[in-house]
Amino acid sequence: MSGGRGIDPRYMQELKQKNNIVEVIGSYVPLERKGGNYWACCPFHHEKTPSFAVNEADQFYHCFGCGVSGDVVGFVREIESTDFLGAVRILADRAKMPMPESNFDTERAAALKKKRDSLIAILLDSARFYLSNLYGGGAAAHLEYISRRKLAPTTVKKFGLGASLDFYSLPEYLAGKGYSREDLLDSGALAENKSGRLIDSQGGRLIFPIINAFDEVVGFGGRLLEKSDFAKYKNTKETAVFNKSKTLYNVNLLKRLKREQTISEVIVVEGYMDTISLYQAGFKNVVASMGTSLTKDQARLVKRYTENVYISYDGDFAGQKADLRGLEILKDENLNVRVVPLPEGLDPDDVAKQGAEAYQKCLDAAMPLIDYKLHSLERKYDLKKTEDKRTFVAEALKIVRTAESESEKEDLLKKLRDKTGITYQSLERDLQNLPAESRQTEMHLPPPSEAGTDKYKKAARFILAAKLFSAPYAKNCGLESIEFDDNVHKIIAEYISSCERNGERVRPSELFELLDEDSPEFNEILDLNYGDKLSGEVAERFFADSVRTLEEESLKGKIGEYRRLFDAERDTEKRKEIARKMDECTRRLKKRSGGR
Ligand code: UTP
Ligand code: MN
Repeated sequence: MSGGRGIDPRYMQELKQKNNIVEVIGSYVPLERKGGNYWACCPFHHEKTPSFAVNEADQFYHCFGCGVSGDVVGFVREIESTDFLGAVRILADRAKMPMPESNFDTERAAALKKKRDSLIAILLDSARFYLSNLYGGGAAAHLEYISRRKLAPTTVKKFGLGASLDFYSLPEYLAGKGYSREDLLDSGALAENKSGRLIDSQGGRLIFPIINAFDEVVGFGGRLLEKSDFAKYKNTKETAVFNKSKTLYNVNLLKRLKREQTISEVIVVEGYMDTISLYQAGFKNVVASMGTSLTKDQARLVKRYTENVYISYDGDFAGQKADLRGLEILKDENLNVRVVPLPEGLDPDDVAKQGAEAYQKCLDAAMPLIDYKLHSLERKYDLKKTEDKRTFVAEALKIVRTAESESEKEDLLKKLRDKTGITYQSLERDLQNLPAESRQTEMHLPPPSEAGTDKYKKAARFILAAKLFSAPYAKNCGLESIEFDDNVHKIIAEYISSCERNGERVRPSELFELLDEDSPEFNEILDLNYGDKLSGEVAERFFADSVRTLEEESLKGKIGEYRRLFDAERDTEKRKEIARKMDECTRRLKKRSGGR
């Protein structure tokens, strides 16, 4: 297996041997030995008592407070805000080793890195250019817009807002800097017009730079100053460094905040202006999903900072199915979700403009998702009208039915009683008599297949973690009969299998070379190693169940595949052969489910 980042695994091994993680981390933060581990106050989040552990035997670190973990390379990468190769360079210097030799793979890695560096440099140059435009005398309209939206100069500076004045001055400016036309286009900062001339993608707009957790400008949001038929905001297209659905606006300042103070909750808003206004009003723990309904990647990004999330979308968002689905995603990630009710028709920016107290009141009224659903349902009806009240109760009970516990149900029924004056007993009886099929149709729950996928994902994670961390019950289970869907899972499984084939020990820390330590999926798997989740009888049983589930799943997949082949095949002999294989799989599947 070649190193995923194009560096010879033997080089990485030597680099790590010569950079003991305890010494390296110890040079950044004072470490104290206690039991088998070294401890410190976490350099990545604010805390007073140490929960950051460095494990010398396995050469990796984990913070029990904020959940970060990684090997020595990951640590340097994070603390120096650099990338993988940057961290390698620092560690190589430290150990007086040369940088890794150039072979095909490192050439490719170097080319990729060069490309990325070039895109980032173009975006940074563009951001600076926009910034200098803003106060350069030609941006009266932009400045007037900013003042109309009541943004203070310090806020404007903090968020690096800028101005695009026209379509041609940015290309001209960048032309003098020696970037290739291809890179200029690939960065998304420039585009081509119909006649092939390079133009500023944001021509004329007010610029909101989008900055990642490593303080790199990765893209722009641009707002029109006037109402028109064009989209109000335009975002940089998807590029090698920017993917809107995996990014949160303001994550850079949130990361900084986390180092200064405890972040007990994060407020998630929809828009750029919402973020900036709340920040200006003193709510610095805010990020924006940038208009999309929240994605799984964004939910996991939030989870790096806190477990408690306040969703603060526009007043009327509950009407939109997509957004409610976003909230289910947060719950799937085990985040505590509260929804901030806003006055009809207003967004967080509008409320923040009325003052910090006004928004704080909304925050104080935040409620669990299910309560929020009832709350917004209620707004649609006039409960003084009998007809309205009936419809409301019928709809409300469908929501109550999805409650996760009996006590939650009871609590909601009591609230319904107080709102409608109908007795608790009647409501409870009506709830029990709800027709069965109405259970899911109205509730915007993720479709069953998606929920199923989650089950497989959990099973796969558990199996891989048990193998990686050498749980005794996992020892004799091979991974060959399991098919992993997820790319990260595939890489880990391949790594484990190759170790087993070669009779080598599985070393979790070696995976940091094959995978991005920021990969949320990888972190899900690493997290299973903490808090005794992998030991004990329950874990053992869950492991066996998971293996069975996935083996069955992969048999079913094969059967489906053979069926398609069978239908497409004209040759009788080959059809027979396919049918034989299909039967074989069906038999194996039956045997397994029979064994339950
Ligand atoms: P909104 O339509 O709620 O706008 O979009 P807003 O944030 O209140 O903007 P202002 O106050 O009118 O300036 C919310 C977010 O959705 C994304 C942007 O990230 C925006 O901030 N969006 C919206 C787009 O990407 N494109 C659009 O055309 C509109
Ligand atoms: Mn707005």
